[in-house]
Amino acid sequence: MSLETFDADWLALRESADHRSRAGGMLTPLRDWWSEPGRTRVLDLGAGAGSNLRYLAPELSGPQEWTLVDHDQGLMSRARPPVPELAVSTHCQDLREGVGALVGRADLVTASALLDLVSEAWLSALADVCSEARAGALFALSYDGRVEWSGEADPADAAVLTAVNRHQRGDKGFGAALGPSAGPAADEAFRAHGYRTWLLPSPWVLESADTELVRALVDGWADVAMERLPGERARVREWADARSEDIAEGRVRLTVGHWDLLALPPDEGGP
Ligand SMILES: C[S@@+](CC[C@H](N)C(=O)[O-])C[C@H]1O[C@@H](n2cnc3c(N)ncnc32)[C@H](O)[C@@H]1O
Repeated sequence: MSLETFDADWLALRESADHRSRAGGMLTPLRDWWSEPGRTRVLDLGAGAGSNLRYLAPELSGPQEWTLVDHDQGLMSRARPPVPELAVSTHCQDLREGVGALVGRADLVTASALLDLVSEAWLSALADVCSEARAGALFALSYDGRVEWSGEADPADAAVLTAVNRHQRGDKGFGAALGPSAGPAADEAFRAHGYRTWLLPSPWVLESADTELVRALVDGWADVAMERLPGERARVREWADARSEDIAEGRVRLTVGHWDLLALPPDEGGP
């Protein structure tokens, strides 16, 4: 299976919704843990154009050395450090080749909008290597399968969502993807290693100010639904136009569910 590629414009379009949706409730335990002596190295898997770096680096104190990993060097070349004193390097690699050596040199392993693409086996191997390295883990914005339109339902909402969620579980290069199960599966995998975890919702709540993002999202969903339901192409096209207009005109709000997970290793000498 080939590698999944992502468009820089799409990543830029979603960045402000991603940042404002992240679960602030995990920042206090993360900062308390991070502030212990010797913790400086952050590994960002599937870093893309650096959105996670731009969100997280200003939330962490002290010196930070970031390593961004992605198979797409073009995307990573867009990642600018959000604070000048930050050390940021990039490592162009296919994550399927294994990340044990990189994780072994990290204090905190992070990713955003990645876990729903990976397989259960890949996630389990990641939890194993994080545990061996006693690294903390923070995985943001894993899609949870829930999409809600406020107000009156459109008859096509459910059919499109079913098609999208089936597509989410398809192979994105790692084998069958975890899709909507990614957040709870990661929670379980890290708990099995004795980690303390915080699994918190981080939904996108999108309104008329997000019209451009919703248009792109709905068009992407419509493409998936039309591929799976070729007999329903006209109905799905109408649905996409109507739903985009609903948002643009301020008639409805769209909520797209995600999970953020913080997993911190058991204390040294503890259980
Ligand atoms: C949805 S994007 C998220 C990017 C970024 N973390 C963000 O929040 O904007 C997923 C990222 O994972 C990367 N990716 C997907 N499969 C990969 C693989 N097998 N090896 C390396 N990177 C991969 C893509 O290139 C893309 O940058």
